[in-house]
This record gives sequence, structure tokens and C-alpha cells, in this order.
Amino acid sequence: MAEPSFSIRPSQDEDRLPLAMLFAAVAAERDGIATEPPVDVEARAASWRLDGDFLAVAGDTIVGNVHVDASPHGFGELGMAVAREWRGRGVGSALLATAIDWARARGLHKLSLGVWPHNTAAIALYRKFGFVEEGRKVKQCRRKSGELWDTIEMGLLL
Ligand SMILES: CC(C)(COP(=O)(O)OP(=O)(O)OC[C@H]1O[C@@H](n2cnc3c(N)ncnc32)[C@H](O)[C@@H]1OP(=O)(O)O)[C@@H](O)C(=O)NCCC(=O)NCCS
Repeated sequence: MAEPSFSIRPSQDEDRLPLAMLFAAVAAERDGIATEPPVDVEARAASWRLDGDFLAVAGDTIVGNVHVDASPHGFGELGMAVAREWRGRGVGSALLATAIDWARARGLHKLSLGVWPHNTAAIALYRKFGFVEEGRKVKQCRRKSGELWDTIEMGLLL
């Protein structure tokens, strides 16, 4: 089997700006993550939380990110994004596996996330790793278009 053309590592201080730029690019798609443009890239970079944060890098380019926000109540909220041109090549799977390992090592008992019902790629990825659907929040998020979108809540007991 060919070697993967990317690698996963913890995010570091100097990654803040490219991570925020990746986040802004995915936000501009408006149909994967909750944030929509405009993204204040500088502010997002400055506030980026490095604990529980991992990235996928291909050469010098950051092509994916996963973040676990560890709650004091033992669960972690997960968010992730892969650069559009890198999707479907295993980056999301590698990031998610790393996040699950990190959460277990941190002693968390559960990972949680919310996902748009139309995000079939993300839902398939989460299911592949054992996440189950726990419920649906109806008309949870107001989009800039004015539409009200449901979210599917998913969880993985660690
Ligand atoms: C969701 C996302 C992170 C997946 O990353 P990825 O690198 O494409 O994922 P992978 O290549 O590792 O694929 C993982 C699994 O997802 C599923 N999948 C990937 N692309 C898919 C697609 N287009 N349709 C259906 N399932 C898909 C498959 O089950 C795949 O597993 P398999 O390759 O063993 O069949 C990526 O699409 C993304 O960043 N989307 C925009 C941001 C986003 O939606 N973030 C999540 C918010 S909840």
C-alpha cells in the first residue's frame, strides 16, 4: 500500500494563522461547519485553542484540523474540517482517530458533536468510528440566509 501523503501532529503556536485561514475557507462553503463568512482570521488565529488540537499537514500545507474542547464534566466537544481538495483521501479518518486517542488518554468518557442533517460525508465518517445519533435539535441554527437548520447530535462513549 502507498504511504499516506499527509501526516498528523499536534497544532503549535505558529500554526494559528494557517489554521484560521483553513477555517475561513471551509466557513465560506457555508454547508459544513456552523460558522459563516465573514471570519476575522486574525482574531480567530489569536483565540485558537491549541490544547486538544491536531492538524493534518501535506508538505508545508495544513490540509485538515480536528479540535476537542474538553469539558470539566468529562465529555469533549469535537469539531473538524478538511480542505476541500483533500477530502475523500483519509485525512478526516486519520484526524478523528487521533482525536479519539487523545480524548481517551485525557480521561474523557465521551465525545459529542453536532452536524447538519445534509452533511452525509461527516455523518458517515462519525458512524464509521462508532458515533451514534442521539437526537435532533429542530431549527437550531439561524443561517445568514434566514433559514433555520436542524442539527443532529452524535456521541461516542470512549
Ligand atoms: C467531513 C469531513 C471532515 C470528512 O473528511 P475526509 O477527509 O473527506 O474523510 P475521509 O476521506 O477520511 O472519509 C471518511 C469516511 O467518510 C465517508 N465519506 C467521505 N466522503 C464522503 C462522501 N462524499 N459521501 C459519503 N460518505 C463520505 C466515508 O464513510 C469515508 O470512509 P471510507 O473511506 O472508509 O469509506 C470533510 O468532508 C470536511 O471537512 N467537510 C467540511 C467541513 C465539515 O463538514 N466538518 C464537519 C462538521 S460536523
